[in-house]
Amino acid sequence: MIQKIKIVKTFIIILSLSFSFSANAQTVEEIIKGRKAMFSENYQNGKKISILLKSNKIEEAKPLMKKISDNYIKLLDYFPENTKEGFKTEALPSIWENKDEFNALMQKASDDMIKLAKAVDTAEDLRAVQKELMWGNCSSCHNRFRAPH
Ligand code: HEC
Repeated sequence: MIQKIKIVKTFIIILSLSFSFSANAQTVEEIIKGRKAMFSENYQNGKKISILLKSNKIEEAKPLMKKISDNYIKLLDYFPENTKEGFKTEALPSIWENKDEFNALMQKASDDMIKLAKAVDTAEDLRAVQKELMWGNCSSCHNRFRAPH
């Protein structure tokens, strides 16, 4: 009887271990598709922000700015060494050759979205401030780190 309980216990431990491993380790496919999805979401939210600001719906736009900022922080973990190719990635090898610079740009893009959420309260030219703190960061990163598409 005791023997049986021991076997069942061991089995349960092995089962829960293998579950927690598979929950933590994302596959290359999940990582590449995951980062593409986050960039696409940021793009959709960026367009929504522009539309909202055009009609002066500043408070409605702010949570979207925070969301983009948070996504950029998550994205810092979405470029491990083993995800340089496959699954139609447009990520360029230059990312891994200049990882510090790439991460700094990602961090800046995130910080700038927080700055934007403050700047819109007082900015006279909403278009200019969006260009400076939101859209400008997309192109400066894409120019160096994303393949032409
Ligand atoms: C710090 C770098 C960086 C910043 C900032 C950045 N991007 Fe990107 N973006 C990338 C990289 C790298 C890829 C390619 C990812 C891949 O294919 O694995 C990408 C891919 C994309 C994609 C394609 C996603 C897909 O489904 O293939 C879109 C859309 C996009 N970015 C929009 C934006 C927009 C809009 C902004 C600004 C609001 C932005 N990105 C800011 C680096 C950046």
